[in-house]
Formats: sequence, structure tokens, C-alpha cells
Amino acid sequence: MNVLGIETSCDETSVAILSSNKLKANLISSQEFHSNYGGVVPELSSRAHLQLIKPLVDKSLTKANLNLPDLDLITATAGPGLIGALLVGLTYAKGLAFSLNVPFISVNHIEGHIFSGFLMNEKPEFPFLALVVSGGHTLLLIVKNFSNIIQLGTTVDDAAGEAFDKVSKMLGFGYPGGPKIQQSASKGDEQRIDFPIAKLKNKYNFSFSGLKTSVLRYIQKNYSDETNIPEDDINDIAASFQKAAVDALIKNTETALNNNEVKSISLVGGVAANKKLRDDMTNLSKKYKKKVVIPDQEFCGDNAAMIALRGKHLFDGGRKDKLNVNPYPSLGEDYFQ
Ligand code: KG4
Ligand code: ZN
Repeated sequence: MNVLGIETSCDETSVAILSSNKLKANLISSQEFHSNYGGVVPELSSRAHLQLIKPLVDKSLTKANLNLPDLDLITATAGPGLIGALLVGLTYAKGLAFSLNVPFISVNHIEGHIFSGFLMNEKPEFPFLALVVSGGHTLLLIVKNFSNIIQLGTTVDDAAGEAFDKVSKMLGFGYPGGPKIQQSASKGDEQRIDFPIAKLKNKYNFSFSGLKTSVLRYIQKNYSDETNIPEDDINDIAASFQKAAVDALIKNTETALNNNEVKSISLVGGVAANKKLRDDMTNLSKKYKKKVVIPDQEFCGDNAAMIALRGKHLFDGGRKDKLNVNPYPSLGEDYFQ
């Protein structure tokens, strides 16, 4: 069975092909021009998706050595994400499914991330604890099986990736912030500044807005010119911020491990590309003697491989979508039990 996946929820246009559960192509085109504006400009993102989508579909077919009529199932992200951006991929996918007369499945972007560990050779074992850390979401979940997910915690304000992006702006690195903070942090002293970790009523919830504000206050207090901070100091601030953000994520994951029976752990989403987080999560898994699955970098950020895979799971489970499915901009409250 040949499954086409399309992902256009934000600033990555991605097309993937899964053939008999083997990944034959996963092309990702990152719209890097957004960095000129300090963040993603939704309308420009939609227009870029429009230009990129067809060439990427063509290229992925060539890479997989297939032709359009060989496709058996079309899948695309339906949300959450930028509405205009989602519309491009979803509408293109529906048109393709209609013209080829093959089934169509719409996929929740976050579910794509949650099950992205199944793209690896070593797969998560159910039930598993999933930490989803992306630019828009931070979720701690118990994943019982392919259709039963229980939410333990989420962020009460900023998402983890959003905090990296905002602190990156403060330090003059721009967007996207995660990789730049990581690079700067690798040269800094993470013990230099003790940034706070929020304590919340729900022990599984996260809050990053206080951390972000304390980085801002630290900069305002210590530097008269915020655009001229010495490089060594920038590296120390980046490292200390990264430590606090990662410690917060690890702390709640550990609390969840202490209170729930799981067979494995999976760390997913764009921020899962972070080396310190990957290392600390691996160490935590060793402490609790749990298997840990962290997707390769290619599958942490937004990619269509995870969409094709999740679409295939849903199809195997009997789902078939009509072509009037709408895109949805935010995470539906009824999505997780
Ligand atoms: O999952 P993703 O690609 O898109 C969303 O669904 O939001 O996540 C993007 C987020 C951005 O906030 C980006 O700064 C962050 O992932 N990110 C990182 C790293 N690479 C990407 N954060 C920390 N360290 C990284 N190495
Ligand atoms: Zn994502």
C-alpha cells in the first residue's frame, strides 16, 4: 500500500511516501525567509506552501519510484496550525484523493508528533508516557494504544518551543530560536544564573512565561544596552535558560513516571531535537529502567512522514474521511480523554 502524507500546518512544507510501512520519501522544505520578520508570517507561509506543494509531491514520487496512480491513500494535516497554511495542504490532498478515486484521511498534527516514534526501528511500547514539546504545544500524555490517549498535563501559558523562540529574540538570535539557543548554550555556563521553575497546582502542568520574564528582567537589570551584551554573557544566559526549561520538562516527566505504570517513554516534537533535553531524558529513562524512543532529528520538527504514518494507523483502524473535512486552527478539547 502506498500512502502519501502532506504537512503544511506552519512554516514547513513537507511531503512523504510510505510504501508497505517503509518510508520511501520525506521531503521537508523549511521556509527560512520568515527569519527576516522575527517569526512566521501566516499569509506568506500560505503562499509559499502553494508554490512548494506540487513540486514536492512530484519530487517525492520520483524519489519513491512511483507515479500518481500508484497511490492508494492520501493523508494530510487538518490542524492545529495556521488556518491558511492548513488549507493549502488539506485542499491539495482532497483534490488528489478525488481525482485518483482513493481514500482520504485527515490527521491531527499533534497525534502525528505523538506517534512519530513509530517511524524509528525501535518503537515505543504501550502504554507509553509521551512528552510532546513543539512551538505551539507542551503536553504530557499517557498513550494507552493507537486510539486511547490520556492527558496528564499541558502548559498554562507559553509552549516550550515558544519560550526558546522568545528568549532567542531577547538575545538577538531571531527565529527559530531553539537551534540558536542550543548552539550558544553549548559554549556557556548553565550554572551561572538560577532561573526559576514554576510550581503549579496540577503537578503535571507547565508554565514558561515566568521563566521568560525572569530572563528579560535579568537582561534589563544587568545591561544598560540590551543590544550589546558580551558574547560570553549571552552564552551563559542561553545555557542557564536552557537548563531551567529542560529541568522543568524533566521534573514533570519524572513525577509522571513515579505515579503511572508505563512500559516506555517517547519524547517528540520540535524541541525534542534539543541535545540537552535528549540527553537528560535518556538519563531519566535509565534511572527508571524504561525504554526511551526519541525520533531522529528529521522526525522531531514538522514532517509529513509522521502524518502519513498516523493516517495509515487511522485507515487500518477503519476510518475513512469525507472530502468536506474542515481544517481546525486549535487543539480540539475533545481530542484527548
Ligand atoms: O514541532 P515543531 O517543528 O513545530 C510545531 O508544531 O510547532 O516545533 C518547532 C519548535 C520551535 O519553537 C523551535 O524553536 C523548536 O521547536 N526547536 C528547538 C530546537 N529545534 C527546534 N528547541 C530547542 N532546541 C532545539 N534544538
Ligand atoms: Zn509540530
